[in-house]
Amino acid sequence: MKPRHFITLNDLTAEELRSLIQRAIELKRMRADGIIYEPLKNKVLAMVFEKSSTRTRISFESGMSQFGGSALFLSPRDTQLGRGEPIEDSARVISRMVDGIMLRTNDHETVTTFAKHSKVPVINGLTDRFHPCQLLADLQTWFEQRGDIKGKRVCWIGDGNNMCQSYMNAAKLLDFELTIACPKGYEPEQSLLDATASHVKLFYEPKQAASNADLIVTDVWASMGQEEEQKIREDAFVNFQVDAALMSVAKPDALFMHCLPAHRGEEVSADVLDGKSSVVWDEAENRLHAQKALLEFLMK
Ligand code: CP
Ligand code: NVA
Repeated sequence: MKPRHFITLNDLTAEELRSLIQRAIELKRMRADGIIYEPLKNKVLAMVFEKSSTRTRISFESGMSQFGGSALFLSPRDTQLGRGEPIEDSARVISRMVDGIMLRTNDHETVTTFAKHSKVPVINGLTDRFHPCQLLADLQTWFEQRGDIKGKRVCWIGDGNNMCQSYMNAAKLLDFELTIACPKGYEPEQSLLDATASHVKLFYEPKQAASNADLIVTDVWASMGQEEEQKIREDAFVNFQVDAALMSVAKPDALFMHCLPAHRGEEVSADVLDGKSSVVWDEAENRLHAQKALLEFLMK
C-alpha cells in the first residue's frame, strides 16, 4: 500500500485538516494534564535538514519522544546525501529502516522525489515553495483563539514566499478570504494565484490588503538561502512593515502571527510582535501539538 505523505496542505481534505486541528488541541490538553500517551512506541522518525531550524527540529524530536518513539537528526554534511548519493536511492534506503521521514530542503522537488521512492510517510518540514507544518500550528492557534476560520479575512503582508503560498492553499481548503500585499516582483507563483483565485486577492498596497482583516500575518523579507539579497529586499519591502498603524486598519480584535524567527524593526515592529494582538508564542508552541496530531495521523 502507498503511504500517505504530507507535502502540501492539499494532501489533506478539508475534513481531515479540521479534525487534525481538533486533535492537536486535544493532545495539547492531554500533555498539560500530564497524561502519558505513547501511540508511536518503538517508531523512528528520520529528519533530514538541509537548512537551519529551531522550532521544526525541536517540535518533531520532542513530539516523537513524547509519543514513545524517537527521532534521528540527519544533516547532509554527515550523511551520503551531502556527497551526492541520489535522492531516489537515499529514499529507498532510509525508508526501509524508519517509520516516517521529515525533510527540510532547498528545492521543493527534493521532497516530492523523495516521497515518490519512500515506503513510509514523508513530511515536508519546509521547502522553497511550501511550509505546511507551520500552517497546522497557525490554524490551531486561530481555532483556539477564535473558533473556525471559515469566512474570515486573513491578510498576508510581505514576500510571496513558502509561508504565503501555504496560506493560499489553506484559504481555499478551509474557505477563508486571503488578501496578500507584496512589492511588485515578489508575488507568489502565478499558477497558485490562478488555482486559488476564488479565495485569494493580490494587492500592492499594505493598507488596502489589511483593511478589516481578522488576522494579519507576515514573515521575514529574506528567507533562508536568500541572504545575499538582504539589502535589495530591505529596500523593496521598506513600506511593508507590520506596525501599529497597519494593525489599526484591521478589525479592532485582529490577531497577529509570524512563523518566527522574526526581525523586530524589519518586517514587524517590536510593539506589534510583543503586543497584545500577537499570538506568536502560542503559535510556536503549537508546532509541537499540531505535528503530534500529524505524526499520529500518518504513522500510527
Ligand atoms: N517557523 C519555523 O519553521 O522555525 P524554524 O526555522 O526554527 O524551524
Ligand atoms: N520563509 C522563511 C520561513 C522560516 C521558518 C524561510 O524560508 O526562511
